[in-house]
Amino acid sequence: MDFAQLDSPKKPSAWLDLDALDHNIKLVNEKTKAVHLRLATKSIRSIDVLKYIIDKSPNYIGLMSYAADESAYLLENGFDNILCAYPTLDTQSIAKTFEYTKQGATMVWMVDRPEQVDVLNQIAKSQNQTVEICLDINMSMPLPKLYFGTKRSALIKKRDVKKLLKHIKSCRHVKLVALMGYEAQIAGLPEHLPGKTMLSPAIKMLKNRSQKQVSTRRGSLVSWLIKQGVDLKIVNGGGSGSMDFTSSQPEVTEITVGSAYYKPAYFDYMDSMADFKPAAGFALPITRRPEKHVITCHGGGFIASGAVGIDKAPIVHYPQGLSILPDEGYGEVQTPLVVDSKIIKNGMMPQIGDAVWCRHAKAGELCEHFNELVCYRANAQLTAEGAAYTMTTYRGEGQCFH
Ligand SMILES: Cc1ncc(COP(=O)(O)O)c(C=O)c1O
Repeated sequence: MDFAQLDSPKKPSAWLDLDALDHNIKLVNEKTKAVHLRLATKSIRSIDVLKYIIDKSPNYIGLMSYAADESAYLLENGFDNILCAYPTLDTQSIAKTFEYTKQGATMVWMVDRPEQVDVLNQIAKSQNQTVEICLDINMSMPLPKLYFGTKRSALIKKRDVKKLLKHIKSCRHVKLVALMGYEAQIAGLPEHLPGKTMLSPAIKMLKNRSQKQVSTRRGSLVSWLIKQGVDLKIVNGGGSGSMDFTSSQPEVTEITVGSAYYKPAYFDYMDSMADFKPAAGFALPITRRPEKHVITCHGGGFIASGAVGIDKAPIVHYPQGLSILPDEGYGEVQTPLVVDSKIIKNGMMPQIGDAVWCRHAKAGELCEHFNELVCYRANAQLTAEGAAYTMTTYRGEGQCFH
């Protein structure tokens, strides 16, 4: 999108470039065509956008949700085949989903410990239901002095799975139907983090080594479970940063993708995402000029989750030559930015009334700050019946899921 051609919003707003989104949808479809596609809702957080992507994705099979209350909401909104990716103790929301599963909807819950299985078994028993469950296999690579991966699941060895399977078989109201092995250290870890470029060769080497281990661990556990008589309907893996790798794995039936659609700033630092286009972000109007070289925008915050670091701050996408002040960063409700001297010399100083177009470091978190995404196509804001054409976020629907 050519941001120079756009009208500047007068208040902070979120933008969605539909041309870039279409490009990303097509690329995801090409890269993942060997398997089914599951959309990571946490990285999209808008029913309108989910529907837009689904409409253009022939291999779409279902959603990967992040919370039980969100799962119930998605079922209420007519979605089916939902895999809630993180274990939950929210029995009230789980119970709400029974209304839909009784009518044939598919809802699968994540487990990696007997305590989680017991919670599901109890609530299902109390309502004379059976719940479908998925094993979350830890795909990390623990090394003697380095843990390469994420700390989520307790299931790493066959003996861990064997023990849990025995427990699951003793619970009459749960049924094991799926396995997920999310290779986070391959799919979600950029090779070229700002300020850490010296680590790039090591990260690449570790990613390579880890791929081999993921193939073996996930593949052999799937074969073993099948031999135990488990009817696995779903073998889920991957994420945006591992589309080529995960889609090529024979044991995998489906891949989860979310962030690739908006392509937030954090994914600029990842080799495998180079062909994707930035499709979403936010615009802040310039309302002040405290010094010759400094402009101050209205609006701020927007720092992403994860380990604290500069890679979690948004980046300025347009215009060029603006940088944050180390002492202020993206402020609470105002953001001062330093303008490069060359920009001023060239007579390109941004003015009060112009906007600064930024990108959030993470995908879905952008939507927690705005009620709607303002849609653009062909370098212009879209309109419908005289008003801005927008897609509503979860927040805009009054929803805040945990
Ligand atoms: C279980 C799981 N699968 C897949 C993904 C990939 O999501 P994305 O494509 O947004 O990186 C994530 C992201 O954290 C995840 O937690």
